[in-house]
Amino acid sequence: MAVIALKCPSIEVVVVDIWEPRIAAWNSDQLPIYEPGLYDVVKECRGRNLFFSKDVEKHVAEADIVFVSVNTPTKTQGLGAGKAADLTYWESAARTIADVSKSDKIVVEKSTVPVKTAEAIEKILTHNSKGIKFQILSNPEFLAEGTAIGDLFQPDRVLIGGRETPEGQKAIQALKDVYAHWVPEDRILTTNLWSAELSKLAANAFLAQRISSVNAMSALCEATGADVAEVAYAVGKDSRIGPKFLNASVGFGGSCFQKDILNLVYICECNGLPEVAEYWKQVIKINDYQKSRFVNRVVSSMFNTVSQKKIAILGFAFKKDTGDTRETPAIDVCQGLLGDKALLSIYDPQVQKEHIQRDLIMKKFDWDHPLHLQPKSASSAVEQVTVTSDAYEATKEAHGVCILTEWDEFKTLDYKKIYDNMQKPAFVFDGRNVVNADKLREIGFIVYSIGKPLDAWLKDMPAIA
Ligand code: UDX
Repeated sequence: MAVIALKCPSIEVVVVDIWEPRIAAWNSDQLPIYEPGLYDVVKECRGRNLFFSKDVEKHVAEADIVFVSVNTPTKTQGLGAGKAADLTYWESAARTIADVSKSDKIVVEKSTVPVKTAEAIEKILTHNSKGIKFQILSNPEFLAEGTAIGDLFQPDRVLIGGRETPEGQKAIQALKDVYAHWVPEDRILTTNLWSAELSKLAANAFLAQRISSVNAMSALCEATGADVAEVAYAVGKDSRIGPKFLNASVGFGGSCFQKDILNLVYICECNGLPEVAEYWKQVIKINDYQKSRFVNRVVSSMFNTVSQKKIAILGFAFKKDTGDTRETPAIDVCQGLLGDKALLSIYDPQVQKEHIQRDLIMKKFDWDHPLHLQPKSASSAVEQVTVTSDAYEATKEAHGVCILTEWDEFKTLDYKKIYDNMQKPAFVFDGRNVVNADKLREIGFIVYSIGKPLDAWLKDMPAIA
């Protein structure tokens, strides 16, 4: 919304939220999320044509176009638990829109939703509409965190789905006119509603599938002596495949991939397509396998036990340049090591201590619900975990170091200094392939890098104990 305000000075954008502290943060110098470049955009438009308000009813009533960007968590209870999207927040937003509207509106789905959600939303709006006309559009968001501003300035495509009626087409055109302020026309794609909704799930599933494919190869590389980076490079040189999204890692995280694939699986099952459901489920299974494979490497390398050993965790965010930890592989890896009674010392340049503690005690899928429904951190902090404010403190006297996020600063740490302050033998387990393994070996470390030829030390240790 900030980028729309920046690029379209003639349009007034008001961001509303029922949670007051979040609106207060958006109105302050400490934005509630860390995203490179975002603060500059907000600063330029805030108070000009970009406003943040908790007065939901007033601003929804006044708007011509309402973008709905509420959470759509994975259901934790009832029908479809663990797979289906929970549309509680979406439904409640739709009811609010129906209640307060006094003029015709275009309602835009920005949240990623299951296919055919627009139909349900349409029903809620029209059954309560007092003669007011609503047009529903699907306009899924493809930005990635950490590069959001660049992605929004120059999107590969903007997708707008709507009804094929004259009113639907008119609504599509109105939203197209907004994006046309800065996006070339040939990058604005228009489709029917269901294609737009499904395209978002499909795009995320395809991206995640590439990572699971290369991660599956990484296990085979370790077993055969091939180097996954060389394999990925060679494979990606084929212009039909392309080089992006082929970095082997400890696993993908983030708020979208797992949730959207689970949702896709559920939709397939509901539509009587179990084979298709099974196919996509495998992408998640490989991701889980990759995380547990990593934990097993750590434990088996260190004489099959990490009990009471200090393990430094460098990086907790799900990727670099974000403070976001939703579905980060670090949670599963840390929990795996804690299960083996390790003592963890965690450092991440952007993630706060309370946040890490809360993540480690949170139940699966709770992260996407409002804060007051999540467990409190202070009362039940995990005793085996300390959080430090720099990498040197985290690694001091540690037996092993696990690199779980590819922060640039981890490439240039003084590893000699780290080695000198660690217990011996000193291990580095690089879950993101950011360190120069040869240089670290020269210093004296035993190094494990995902999908790379194994250190002599690790060769005889079983990958899965
Ligand atoms: C993703 C999609 O890219 C975006 O289009 C969609 O709108 C939201 O979901 P995001 O979750 O922000 O964006 O991050 P992304 O860059 O896609 O990375 C997701 C995860 O995959 C991260 O944990 C990242 O570290 C991992 N990843 C990515 C790999 O392990 N290897 C790669 O080659 C690329």
